[in-house]
Amino acid sequence: MPFSDYKTAIVTGASAGMGWAIAERLRANGITVHALARNAEKLADLEKHCGVIPHAIDVSDLKAVTELLSGLEVDILVNNAGVSRPGNLLSSDAFDVDEQIDVNLRAALHLSRLLLPGMMERDSGHIVNITSIAGHYEFGGHTVYHATKAAMHTVSRQLRVDAFGRRVRVTEICPGRVETDIFAKVEKIDPALAKKKYFEGFEMPQTSDIADAVAYAIDAPHYVNIGMIELMPTLQVPGGLRTAKRDGDNVIL
Ligand SMILES: NC(=O)c1ccc[n+]([C@@H]2O[C@H](COP(=O)([O-])OP(=O)(O)OC[C@H]3O[C@@H](n4cnc5c(N)ncnc54)[C@H](OP(=O)(O)O)[C@@H]3O)[C@@H](O)[C@H]2O)c1
Repeated sequence: MPFSDYKTAIVTGASAGMGWAIAERLRANGITVHALARNAEKLADLEKHCGVIPHAIDVSDLKAVTELLSGLEVDILVNNAGVSRPGNLLSSDAFDVDEQIDVNLRAALHLSRLLLPGMMERDSGHIVNITSIAGHYEFGGHTVYHATKAAMHTVSRQLRVDAFGRRVRVTEICPGRVETDIFAKVEKIDPALAKKKYFEGFEMPQTSDIADAVAYAIDAPHYVNIGMIELMPTLQVPGGLRTAKRDGDNVIL
């Protein structure tokens, strides 16, 4: 089911970063793109840039999402919207936990729940989930973020089982660090400062590299399901092993 077999897509989190690039790429391939995010101004910019249909909506607002989807025939769903937090569970408040679960996991599950039946009926469709290496490896990230991304890895696998027997494909795109403004948002710092800290001097994948991976999975022949693509900077490696030594209350690292 290459691009020519699909007409309409939903891309969540399309106002910035990877979502913007994915929406742009799908438009370039002739797909009608419904672009979802909260920032109406940025969506209007994207509309001007490449002709998406903007929907300023919070993906965790189930009522609004359900209304938006009713009557829409959607061939491609890209669950991309995501939020993260600094620190870990020790420094979290209730909102930190809830928002990450609501946006990264709950919204993606509901969107899939609402759109999968139509895909099954039409025997055609593709769900693309943007997860993270945080779903696969432990490192000093936020515990809830890791949990939501690990859950979306499982959801991606499980949806394949749910769609058994129909030509509905599911792809997990699993990025390492990619140059977007997410780090500025996580740390609540100026994007220029975040750029200096996380990107300057590093060889970083760009949002266009993620859009390429999504396009590759979608454009594969209908009998090919690209299950998962892990895409990291060559010079970034996950893993490592730490053993703390204790001397009374002192932790020697
Ligand atoms: N950048 C990386 O290094 C990296 C690495 C691995 C995985 N990821 C994952 O890749 C995906 C895209 O991240 P990115 O780096 O492109 O981040 P980004 O630049 O911060 O963009 C995040 C997008 O999600 C949208 N969003 C957040 N909360 C939303 C909500 N409640 N309702 C609707 N839209 C919402 C934002 O739009 P509004 O603010 O306008 O709502 C924005 O368009 C995320 O799932 C992220 O976890 C990123």
